[in-house]
Amino acid sequence: MTIQVGVLGGSGYTGRELLRLLDLHDGVEVSFATARSAVGSPTPIPGLSFTEAELDRAGSVDILFMCLPHGTAAEWVTAIPEGPRIVDLTADHRPGSGREAKAAYGLAELHADQVRDARLVANPGCYPTGVIFSLLPLLEEGLLDTGRLTVANAASGVTGAGRSPRTELLFAEVEANYKAYGEGNRHRHLKEMRACLEGVQLLFQPHLLPVSRGILETLTVPVVDGVTPAAIREAWTARYGTDGAIQVLSRGLPELRTVVGTDLLALGVSEVEGVDPPVATVVAALDNLGKGAAGQAVQNMNTMMGWPLNRAIRRTSR
Ligand SMILES: NC(=O)c1ccc[n+]([C@@H]2O[C@H](COP(=O)([O-])OP(=O)(O)OC[C@H]3O[C@@H](n4cnc5c(N)ncnc54)[C@H](OP(=O)(O)O)[C@@H]3O)[C@@H](O)[C@H]2O)c1
Repeated sequence: MTIQVGVLGGSGYTGRELLRLLDLHDGVEVSFATARSAVGSPTPIPGLSFTEAELDRAGSVDILFMCLPHGTAAEWVTAIPEGPRIVDLTADHRPGSGREAKAAYGLAELHADQVRDARLVANPGCYPTGVIFSLLPLLEEGLLDTGRLTVANAASGVTGAGRSPRTELLFAEVEANYKAYGEGNRHRHLKEMRACLEGVQLLFQPHLLPVSRGILETLTVPVVDGVTPAAIREAWTARYGTDGAIQVLSRGLPELRTVVGTDLLALGVSEVEGVDPPVATVVAALDNLGKGAAGQAVQNMNTMMGWPLNRAIRRTSR
């Protein structure tokens, strides 16, 4: 069975990555991919060029992906009351958006039951994907001490900010530099993380890495007395298994180079000496355009279609 899919905003960073991934998927045919300024230029799929977005065309496919700027996707969802099932990669329908009641939140490995029958799936943000998948099993298993602060220091490559030109993203500003931004626990992704991690006091501090893609998040996790790294790994593998897109490292901490260009999320944990009450260091690594966007969007489509979750998902970079 082959289904027809369309991509709104296909010429952006997530859109192009999604098109590359869809091209590898033998269950789909890409009917169209839209752009705004790049109309007429070639897509990553041989023989397909970017077109303007049209309502009738958008309504004609089985699955519609939205890789648009924030706010724009909500307008499209309202304009297409019936027709395709939708995977929205923007924040417009995520928890904390005020529109979350309209959508299933697509944490692919955890929310298959909600995603399977949903008409609209809100694909998680890139930073929240690493933080929520790291912490949720620990919270649910009572391993995380919610009475203390959990700190997430996260660093992202520059594609995380999209393609709109901004001075602080120029090569000369980013190259050979490393800096914090969104300080003061005010990053827009916090709403999404807080909504999923009820009771966790979270301090989230993002940084800009001088690489084009990849996210590494180092979390200081307050743990209940007696919780070992082995217990944390066990909580993760109980939820995510051992052969999927979430890789739990049996030792050591993950690095960017092993996840960039893949759809993997790698999780590692270390004990911490000389601190009382106890904490653990958790590191999550993912490609912001892979598991942080396009890879998880394809996983959600797979679930919506009743296909294996990890069909066409990339475990190694090609
Ligand atoms: N970048 C990431 O790592 C990442 C990860 C997870 C989620 N997201 C979310 O995914 C969405 C897309 O992100 P992105 O990084 O791919 O953005 P992007 O690179 O800036 O691409 C935006 C896309 O939307 C098109 N577009 C721009 N303004 C438009 C408008 N007013 N109406 C219709 N189309 C318009 C652009 O067309 P032209 O290029 O032809 O102008 C382009 O195809 C965002 O909501 C973002 O927050 C991004």
